[in-house]
Amino acid sequence: MIIPSDLIVDDHKHLVSVTRARKPLIEMLQKSEGKTHLEIGSRIGASAIIASGYTESITCIDPMESLGPVPETEGVMYELKDLGIEKYFWLNMDRWGITDKVELIVALSFPFPADLEDRTWDTAFVDGIHTVEGMYQDMKSLEHRINIAMIIDDNPHNAVERFLGETDLWEQRTPMARSAVTLWRKDA
Ligand SMILES: C[S@@+](CC[C@H](N)C(=O)[O-])C[C@H]1O[C@@H](n2cnc3c(N)ncnc32)[C@H](O)[C@@H]1O
Repeated sequence: MIIPSDLIVDDHKHLVSVTRARKPLIEMLQKSEGKTHLEIGSRIGASAIIASGYTESITCIDPMESLGPVPETEGVMYELKDLGIEKYFWLNMDRWGITDKVELIVALSFPFPADLEDRTWDTAFVDGIHTVEGMYQDMKSLEHRINIAMIIDDNPHNAVERFLGETDLWEQRTPMARSAVTLWRKDA
């Protein structure tokens, strides 16, 4: 079997694709030492699986409607087509043994889901809608809900710049790694 270099693989747990923000995501999670993590945009669960190694609980927000680009691996393609994205997400959580750590809110991130209105998290990964306006709205939603740090897959660029220009609470402390930008709360 050919394993593309951007996939992670576990001998027993099959394949999931890996976010390009993988390294900075891990760096942020390690440095922040947070216990609770929020993810906007989860798709088949690769970044949630990564985060599970560093946090106690993960909340995922994703409408789970479109398959989008999927790993070019036959087994994954067949399973995805067969199950659909939401069931495939849970299958991956099960394979990694992290179902108990993960909460999935099947919804768009904006307007912010009412069920989560009063919640806060230590860290976040923003990788949902990839428009400048959409990513900006996601950061505004998280501005007062995240305690330590968040990482943004800022593609297309400028959403982070616009957000930082309007807030006193957040700053960029790490350089951009490809298109991932890490922001820290100033008092964190
Ligand atoms: C790039 S994928 C996420 C990949 C995932 N973070 C990973 O690294 O494994 C983008 C996901 O965002 C979801 N999405 C798109 N628009 C969204 C929105 N407005 N709110 C929440 N999720 C959204 C899509 O359904 C898709 O599953």
